[in-house]
Amino acid sequence: MCGIVGYVGTKDAYPLIIKGLQLLEYRGYDSAGIATYNGKLRVFKKKGKVKDLINLVKESSVPEGTIGIGHTRWATHGLPNDINAHPHLSGDGKLVLIHNGIIENYNVLKEALKKEGHEFISETDTEVLVHLIEETQKRTGLPIEEAVRVALTKVVGAYAIIVMDTDEPDKLVAARKGSPLVLGIGEDEFFIASDPTPIIEHTQKVVFLNDEEIAVVQRSGDFQIKDIDNRIQTPFIQELDMKIAELGKGDFDYYMQKEIYEQPKTIEDCMRGRVNAHEGWVMLSGIKEFSERISKAKRFIVAACGTSWHAGLIGEYLIEELARIPVEVEYASELRYRNPIINSDDVVIALSQSGETADTLAALGLAKEKGALIYGVVNAVGSSIARMTDAGSYIHAGPEIGVASTKAFTGQVTLLTIMAMCLGYERGTIPRSYYLQLIEELANIPSKVARVLENSKKIEYIAGEIKEATNALYLGRGYNFPVALEGALKLKEISYIHAEGYPAAEMKHGPIALIDENMPVIVIATNKSAYEKIVSNIQEVKARKGVVIAVVTEGDKIISDIADYTIEIPDTDEPLTPLLSVIPLQLLSYYIAVMRGCNVDQPRNLAKSVTVE
Ligand code: M6R
Repeated sequence: MCGIVGYVGTKDAYPLIIKGLQLLEYRGYDSAGIATYNGKLRVFKKKGKVKDLINLVKESSVPEGTIGIGHTRWATHGLPNDINAHPHLSGDGKLVLIHNGIIENYNVLKEALKKEGHEFISETDTEVLVHLIEETQKRTGLPIEEAVRVALTKVVGAYAIIVMDTDEPDKLVAARKGSPLVLGIGEDEFFIASDPTPIIEHTQKVVFLNDEEIAVVQRSGDFQIKDIDNRIQTPFIQELDMKIAELGKGDFDYYMQKEIYEQPKTIEDCMRGRVNAHEGWVMLSGIKEFSERISKAKRFIVAACGTSWHAGLIGEYLIEELARIPVEVEYASELRYRNPIINSDDVVIALSQSGETADTLAALGLAKEKGALIYGVVNAVGSSIARMTDAGSYIHAGPEIGVASTKAFTGQVTLLTIMAMCLGYERGTIPRSYYLQLIEELANIPSKVARVLENSKKIEYIAGEIKEATNALYLGRGYNFPVALEGALKLKEISYIHAEGYPAAEMKHGPIALIDENMPVIVIATNKSAYEKIVSNIQEVKARKGVVIAVVTEGDKIISDIADYTIEIPDTDEPLTPLLSVIPLQLLSYYIAVMRGCNVDQPRNLAKSVTVE
């Protein structure tokens, strides 16, 4: 939530920061703002997107200067409007600050500052922070980096901030706690951003700041990192391996569309070096170091949110079936607040695309305190969750920019499939012939996903038929039940059609009351086990005049005769079905959203990475 960018060096800051904000816009798009300094401070802020900010700047002259900061907002405190947009200024107008996070004790601080004569113009918690730093500076006479550090000792909450002091115009100060921040180190220049995407075009050398660290970067090329207790830290400088081309839309209209079509490749990337069909093995280096503890675990607990939680449910089915280890799948937000029973012989798996989701991070913190082994299944390299875990595996899906998660989901499911197979093999719970069959079939999945994608015209046609619906029901059994949940979430978040996912058999316990001729019911009906049961479910929907869209296995005649529309996917082993059956649902939501004129990549009220509670 919220994207922040800072630059100090020798180049024009404005274009660099604007480009950075465009790359970070997926993190929030309620308003955008920028401040640069060139002997004179210039601040522009505008409700809406970065393009609205650019238009505002066009009305006057482009701000000059080789130092600056910029922000794209996902509103928490205060409406999305020009006044609440960042940057925020101190009372004397000398300090400028941008912030991602929430200052929980902002009210107490605000009241105390008001008593000292501070006046506030916005409704934000962020403005309180910049006044607090100003007050600290006034009282102590400390240089800006020290004033920031001391002020932050009084703050409760989460923050990633960048501060510019017009009295010291050759330096930027950045700090983080609970919200991500990366420092890019160039030749006589520094970049600071919420994630590496605005940085990698300029330098691949980065430092991921840790919680409660404060960095000061100077035009001279010097930089220093301290912790909040004033201890100098040795920075861990990493070389990233990200390409700027990965960040573009290519020939696609939307990032989501591009990411859906990337899946044959991203699933393959996730399997690279981990699945070998010729030699008949799967391996996961992440579990090697702790293999004894992991394979002997009494229980796995998956902590995740949203789409990652759905992938976790599939993980439960896979691990329980193939490795016979009990699995519980928890919403991270619930796990962290309900005093759960977590033991030291449990393994807690964190699933997260961004690696920055606040609830998942907090749940992991709790699990760590209780002594469980923490395993991360993460996409974003170097992210907070990736750095917090004892062990883990990246899914290697590449940057996912569309707010609706697609390729990360199939990456997570692929990774969990490999994990379940590795553990099953090690624990002797999976017959060798079935193990080999699954390996061979897993290796075929990328080409089968490509075949599903070739079917997009038919899916687009079906989307046109149901695009006016106001409600939709998604049904699935077994491995396809979490896919039903995921299909419903995709439709909700990008097309604003209300949708519910249910285990098909649960329909008769309530949702069936909703079915009439206006209700599209999307049934994922590829199951071999309980096939007759799902056919009966479809009959029940048809008997109530519901419109059935069935995802079936190629060649299925029985369901094709009953359903209004069918979408065929290639045959595969049941545990691998979600990797194929989710693809038409992603495409269906995508086309419906496009036809309804929705902003597919930036749906209203959402942000890609949810770094607030
Ligand atoms: O980055 P994470 O995987 O931790 O994010 C979890 C959810 O916020 C995320 O999956 C969200 O539900 C997506 N918008 C779904 O498309």
